[in-house]
Amino acid sequence: MKKFFLGLTFVLPIFAIPSEELMKKGYEVFKKSCSACHVEYMSHEEIRQVRMRVMKGEKPPIQAPPMNEVALRVKHFYPEEEDFIEFVKNYITEPMREKGVCMPMAFKLFGVMPPIGKGLSEEEKEAVAYWMYHRYEGSWEEMIRKFHGHGRGIHGRGKGMMEKPALQGED
Ligand code: HEC
Repeated sequence: MKKFFLGLTFVLPIFAIPSEELMKKGYEVFKKSCSACHVEYMSHEEIRQVRMRVMKGEKPPIQAPPMNEVALRVKHFYPEEEDFIEFVKNYITEPMREKGVCMPMAFKLFGVMPPIGKGLSEEEKEAVAYWMYHRYEGSWEEMIRKFHGHGRGIHGRGKGMMEKPALQGED
């Protein structure tokens, strides 16, 4: 019984509101190990501009999908915090086309991510995944809707293309 209560004191804080300490640590890991490829945030407008350049056949000016896009996309498939963190920790250590949830366009444009997580400690992986989960507001659906609203009419490229955010277009 004593053990049980001891256990609780350890478990409870994990389910609290985002821990500032973990967020800080996660952000540090992001800056150190992820930001060379993933920009922290790109607005819809910026993403749209990149997409237009890519559609004209130019190389994208970035090395990977922006982190806000990645986080919302992963959250769409792994809405629960625990599953999300597990997925991110696993993916960054052993990235594979088959288990990735980015859309085909991301893989086509940028290739599969290198196993960056192999050089990180368990705590660093946990922190950066936690940070990714809590850093961004909104949802994937919302992101699509915004593109939908803006995209058509301006470029007139047809509905299908413009329903998807810039770097995650369908194949
Ligand atoms: C050398 C460039 C590079 C670095 C550094 C990098 N990534 Fe990536 N990442 C990519 C690319 C490219 C993709 C898109 C293709 C893919 O999903 O594998 C990606 C995709 C992802 C995905 C989505 C996977 C999917 O398809 O479901 C996650 C999650 C992710 N990165 C997390 C991270 C985190 C966390 C870090 C830092 C610890 C990081 N990345 C560092 C290049 C990078």
